[in-house]
Amino acid sequence: MLRIGLLGLGTVGSGVYEAISTEKERLTRLLGDEVEVVSILIKNSRKERPHVPRELLVTDFKSFVACKPDVVFEAIVGVDPAYFYVSYLLENSIPVISANKELIAKRGHRLEQIARQAGTYLSYEASVAGGIPILSALKTSLLFNQISQLQGILNGTTNYILTKMSQEGKPFSDVLHEAQALGYAEADPTADIEGWDALYKLQILAYYVTGTWEYSATLTCRGITGVEPWHMEVAGQLGLTLKLAALLTKTARGVEGRVEPVFLPAEHPLSQVNGVTNAIMVTGDLVGQLVFQGPGAGKKPTASAMLEDLVFCHRQFKAGYVPSNNVSLIPFEENDAQQS
Ligand code: NDP
Ligand code: HSE
Repeated sequence: MLRIGLLGLGTVGSGVYEAISTEKERLTRLLGDEVEVVSILIKNSRKERPHVPRELLVTDFKSFVACKPDVVFEAIVGVDPAYFYVSYLLENSIPVISANKELIAKRGHRLEQIARQAGTYLSYEASVAGGIPILSALKTSLLFNQISQLQGILNGTTNYILTKMSQEGKPFSDVLHEAQALGYAEADPTADIEGWDALYKLQILAYYVTGTWEYSATLTCRGITGVEPWHMEVAGQLGLTLKLAALLTKTARGVEGRVEPVFLPAEHPLSQVNGVTNAIMVTGDLVGQLVFQGPGAGKKPTASAMLEDLVFCHRQFKAGYVPSNNVSLIPFEENDAQQS
């Protein structure tokens, strides 16, 4: 029996809970173990949660841990208290699957060290581009290629807003409310519209491309709060599309990158990526240009990424391997020494 714990039962946590509950047989078949959700940590015990048995819900971490989960899905918001929870679990050799890109971008380096020392794993495919398996692709199928550039639309909320403003002429604030109601936006949508959310994702991608977290601090962002309807009109007249794009370029000194609004010509592959869809163009020396595209936010796509993490990592673990996110050719020890 694989005992599952959930940290958070919002858009993402409830997506994971529902997928596990409705697809138990499929999971059991794929994992070779029966699964059972044993505990769910929430904040507000007064919220209505009609589809979840009351006895699974706890509001303090001590009670959560007392239910002895074998693996934990982390889907709460921000660094605190998530860092405390995740580091505690990893230190106690309990694997964690996280969707929390802010936590991973800001504390991923330390958390991976803790996981490694404890002989367990931390996996976070869902933290970048929702349902698109971009981290998996980079760590399993793009190791030989030298990646020179990555360009993408990494935030569903802002792409949804820009698409609706440009195609339907809707005002910014109306469309932002729609994105919140659909579960795409962060609890505080400032992170989306100021570009921070996309920046966290770019920082994680930079780690995957270089094998080190040391370039995170050099990446920058600018959001879309300054965008006005007339920008859309002028862009339309010139045959351009306004997108919040992320760019990462490998240079001799490491990587350079930023998130910013850009005007793209109609022939650019990202110009036709609309709504909540995300896309990432990866340029490798041997393969050339690849484009990964799909739903970048929302309940089911994010749950999909987290459950794929579970299936892949649990199978590896059972086979005697500890799943690792290290894409670097430099051994971990050397990497850590460089950064300490
Ligand atoms: P929500 O705000 O919908 O849900 C957050 C959940 O975490 C809620 O259940 C909340 O409890 C719980 N929570 C918040 N703070 C605490 C705390 N201190 N202790 C215990 N529980 C807490 O967020 P989302 O589900 O949208 O996002 C969750 C994470 O997933 C975030 O890190 C986000 O960046 C990431 N993510 C989100 C995606 C999306 O499409 N929404 C996609 C990919 C990643 P309560 O219910 O009681 O309020
Ligand atoms: N708020 C994020 C977005 C959720 O809109 O892309 C997915 O990471």
